[in-house]
Amino acid sequence: MQAAQTTGLILGIESSCDETSAAVVERGERVLSNVVASQIRTHARYGGVVPELASREHLQNIVPVVRAALEQAGVTLDAIDAIAVTEGPGLAGALLVGILYAKGLAFALNKPLIAINHLEGHIHAVLLETRAQLHDGIAAPLLALVVSGGHTHLYLAEERAGLWSYRNVGKTLDDAAGEAFDKVAKLLGLGYPGGPWIDALAAHGDAHAVAFGPINIKQKPYRASTETSPRFLFSFSGLKTAVLRYVETHAMRERIEARRAALAAMENPNAQDALPLCDAETLGLIASFQRAVIDDLLRKTLAAAETFHARSLIVSGGVAANRELRRRFTQEAAQRALPLAFPSIALSTDNAAMIAAAAWPRFAAGEFASAALNAAPSLKLG
Ligand code: KG4
Ligand code: ZN
Repeated sequence: MQAAQTTGLILGIESSCDETSAAVVERGERVLSNVVASQIRTHARYGGVVPELASREHLQNIVPVVRAALEQAGVTLDAIDAIAVTEGPGLAGALLVGILYAKGLAFALNKPLIAINHLEGHIHAVLLETRAQLHDGIAAPLLALVVSGGHTHLYLAEERAGLWSYRNVGKTLDDAAGEAFDKVAKLLGLGYPGGPWIDALAAHGDAHAVAFGPINIKQKPYRASTETSPRFLFSFSGLKTAVLRYVETHAMRERIEARRAALAAMENPNAQDALPLCDAETLGLIASFQRAVIDDLLRKTLAAAETFHARSLIVSGGVAANRELRRRFTQEAAQRALPLAFPSIALSTDNAAMIAAAAWPRFAAGEFASAALNAAPSLKLG
């Protein structure tokens, strides 16, 4: 096997959305470096990612970020065994920057190129950190909830002969959970991305102030083998509309605009700056919204875990950084004696260490990408 004769160093490159990242990971489990250049400040003034600006920033950042990742790892390009890059899903122009750069490196150095699905990366963000205890702590089949700004997916994952396979058993019909956090934060005059703002402010509000009910999806009877059960489907656009309706019926517009203007006048404001600008009614709305999202993620994930006899649970992606989500999942999993793992906060949001880690089993199996590798903006997993 090729992997046995190498040092097992993979250079990972990630540029699917608004972070340019490069990392060096050894044998899929030891992170030697993980450099992330965030574009948050560029996109914040627009309240969302502007694809054109994202591509330009990736172009500016890719060379220094890769250089920094090699320097911090204390290795040269010669020592790298393979280059792994995110193939999709993501923004086409953003993905292309990472892919073209990775292709160029692989070609110039005559090293293998490995294409990685970003969603598989989020799952490996957890596996990377739990690899040591994998066989006792994280038992397969495992259920993974990947919950980010672009995705709310449930995957059943299994490892056979070193290679992972995935089955998609749940997904969102409209907005992703992180997107709902971002849109509600914007609606309430808070900053971007909204998740961390809502996370911090929700701790000061009554989570039962607004009685947002359970989100149930009614769909035509499904064919078990080919379609996802409606019980594991998510939908957050109705909840976002319910928040909007609450804002209108409770005459909150003026307060929101005053808050938006006060924050806009500050340099680099954060959630602590917003706290004195939020009254109890606003904090109750924020906390209730967050509770409704977490209730829904928890209920459907636990139901899927039971249905598919999952032996452990993983929650990953940007929203997995949410403190209340971590607390609730930890509490409920413990009650069911279901082993549960989250990535460290640094590996919850987009990063290249997870891409390099996901590439390790493929490197060992000799699964390499061809020179024709292209961006796959709607790439599916499972
Ligand atoms: O995984 P990620 O960095 O990028 C995507 O692949 O989408 O996730 C970003 C998303 C954003 O929607 C952001 O608001 C959300 O993750 N997020 C959070 C928290 N931190 C980031 N959502 C809730 N609570 C947080 N603490
Ligand atoms: Zn992501």
